[in-house]
Amino acid sequence: MGQRTFTIIKPDSVGGNHIGEILTMIEKAGFRIIALKMTYLSRSDAEKFYYVHKGRPFFRNLYLFMTSGPIVAAVLEKEGAQDAVAEFRELIGKTNPELAAEGTIRKKFAASKTRNAIHASDSDENAAWEAAFFFPDKEIIDTKYALPLPED
Ligand code: TYD
Repeated sequence: MGQRTFTIIKPDSVGGNHIGEILTMIEKAGFRIIALKMTYLSRSDAEKFYYVHKGRPFFRNLYLFMTSGPIVAAVLEKEGAQDAVAEFRELIGKTNPELAAEGTIRKKFAASKTRNAIHASDSDENAAWEAAFFFPDKEIIDTKYALPLPED
């Protein structure tokens, strides 16, 4: 399993002014942000992104919600992780916030199964596809910080 995953801070979290707190929880859990952008999904973008759910009863609510305001997309890397996708899904908590564990992002910020604060990829393959949906290769920056001066 890989060391990368992909996330979206959903419109309810952006609208509620929770971008900073959510990114803090993500960084405190040991994930490094290697791509980040605020953007907006059109209906056709949302239908493409969630094509696997087309035909499900909640699909209309899902795309209406996901197009209701700006979102923040990010690619995350966790060095040394056995399975970054699974570890990040632990951090976000269950889809239904009533079932989300204490300390998870959804427990803290999600209001319902649809307005559930954050998206996380569910496999390495989907993480790579979802990252590429939002970011060209050159916007995924895994170069490490290096002090440019020997001393200051
Ligand atoms: P899913 O992939 O099952 O959940 P997760 O986001 O935890 O991976 O579903 C994708 C999204 O679809 C989910 O975040 C919100 C929406 N959804 C609903 O609105 N109602 C539902 O009953 C379900 C299962 C999902």
